[in-house]
Amino acid sequence: MALTFTWLGHSTFTIDADGTRLIVDPFLKPNNPVAPRTAAEIEADFMLLTHGHGDHVADAVEIARRTGAQVICNFEIATWLGNQGISNTHAMNHGGAYSFPFGRVKFTIAHHSSMLPDGAYGGNPHGFLINFNDGHDVYIAGDTALTYDMKLIGDVGGVDLAILPIGDNYTMGPADALIAAQWVKAKHVLACHYNTFPVIETDADSFCRQLRRETGIDCTVLAVGASLTLD
Ligand code: NI
Ligand code: MN
Repeated sequence: MALTFTWLGHSTFTIDADGTRLIVDPFLKPNNPVAPRTAAEIEADFMLLTHGHGDHVADAVEIARRTGAQVICNFEIATWLGNQGISNTHAMNHGGAYSFPFGRVKFTIAHHSSMLPDGAYGGNPHGFLINFNDGHDVYIAGDTALTYDMKLIGDVGGVDLAILPIGDNYTMGPADALIAAQWVKAKHVLACHYNTFPVIETDADSFCRQLRRETGIDCTVLAVGASLTLD
C-alpha cells in the first residue's frame, strides 16, 4: 500500500491512496497564480472540500463535472453544487464520520468563515481526519485558527501526517502551527496556504527547521508539484 500526497500550491493536494485518486480544495491554474496544473489535467475519484471560499473551490465544479468524482463536503456546499448540476456529493458535518472506499473520513472543527464565490452561504468550515485503509491517520486542518479542539485529535492517538496552514493573516501562522502540530501529536507535517499571494508570504523552511528542532516532529517543505509518500 502506498499513500502519496502531491502539493499543487495553496491548499490543493492530490492524494493517491493505493490507486484511488483524491483531490483536496481544487484551486488550480490560472485561478491559482502558483499552481502548475489546470483543472483539465486533474483526474479524481473523490474530491474533499474544507469550505466555500474561492481559493478552495474555484475549480471544484469543472473537475466534478468532467471526472464524476464524488464530492465530500458540508451540506450547504453540496446544495450549492447540486444547483450547478453536480449531484454526486456526500454531505457531512462536524463530528460525523463515514467510511468511503479509501478510508474513514471525519469532519473536524475549524475556526474560519465560509461564503461561496457567488455569495451563497457556505455553511461552517471544517477539516478532515482521515483513517486511510493502509492504517495511516492524516489530519487536513483546512483554513483555521489554532484551536483547543486540536488537542482532541492528539488525545485519541495523534496522526501520522498533519497538513497545516502556516501563511498567517487568514489562518494560523507558523508560531501557532508549531503548537497545532504538537497538540494533534503529528509524526510528520506538511505546510500549506502560504506564498500564494504577497499577504501570506511565509518562510516554510524556517518553520520546518524550528518544528524539527524544538519538537522532533518531522516536517517536509514541498516544492509546488512535489510529492511526499507515506509508507
Ligand atoms: Ni478560507
Ligand atoms: Mn483559504
